[in-house]
Amino acid sequence: MTDTNADKKRGLYWWPNYLLILSIIFLALVAVMVFLSMKFQVPFLAPDQIPMPDEGENIPGPEWIFLLFWQGFWFFSGTMKKYLVVMPLIPIGLLVFFIFLPAMHKIPFDKVPGLKNVIEKARGLKGIVRGVVYAIPALAFAFVILVGVYRSGHQAKVLGCVSCHNAGMGPRMNIPPVDVAKYYATERAMQIGVGKYRAGKVAAEEGSGGESGSNEAQGYKDANWQMRHMYEPTFTW
Ligand code: HEC
Repeated sequence: MTDTNADKKRGLYWWPNYLLILSIIFLALVAVMVFLSMKFQVPFLAPDQIPMPDEGENIPGPEWIFLLFWQGFWFFSGTMKKYLVVMPLIPIGLLVFFIFLPAMHKIPFDKVPGLKNVIEKARGLKGIVRGVVYAIPALAFAFVILVGVYRSGHQAKVLGCVSCHNAGMGPRMNIPPVDVAKYYATERAMQIGVGKYRAGKVAAEEGSGGESGSNEAQGYKDANWQMRHMYEPTFTW
């Protein structure tokens, strides 16, 4: 990061001005995280103290972010599975966008009809209003991501896992298989191959067909099942 001439003229330098402001923002973020992790502790005393299986709904957790990027597994299930290939395109697209982001100002947006006026108006602005207007694209992007993370994550029952997955529940529920890779390649692969999820079948017979809208039985132990297991562990297991 280098100081631009315009910044120097206004007496703003990477050090100390920007670095101090950024540090304050990040310290506030860390404070929020510490507060949340103290207020909503992950239950770990099972099987002596067992949480409710639905525990964790609407409680912010790191899992929310993963759930956003796994939405493909939620919507592209059953006959829609062939569209799963588009999933990696979104992160790749984002990566390419971020790589070229520093060159964005080189794109001659003023040549786009209609945009010229808007850009000139924005350039004429001063002070904090200018700052806010210039931040609109970034804020809009952050807002979309935030809404997406919330909408895909808030239903997840992420604190209730040990209510079922604890040492009192016998093999397969608590201790991982001795050879996880082998288990995934053989036993779990077999379950995915032959299994059809009953509750999904009932829903399909009733015509609702689940979230994907398709009128077929849902898979068992596949990625879509795993997501349903997180959203509705008492219904999908
Ligand atoms: C209502 C009880 C219950 C809750 C709550 C629950 N699970 Fe499960 N889970 C099960 C059962 C039953 C199985 C199937 C176990 C088997 O195949 O023997 C299972 C299977 C799994 C599997 C697949 C294991 C395999 O076969 O490879 C994973 C992974 C898993 N659960 C993770 C979670 C996570 C993460 C949570 C919390 C978000 C959770 N579970 C909450 C009951 C539960």
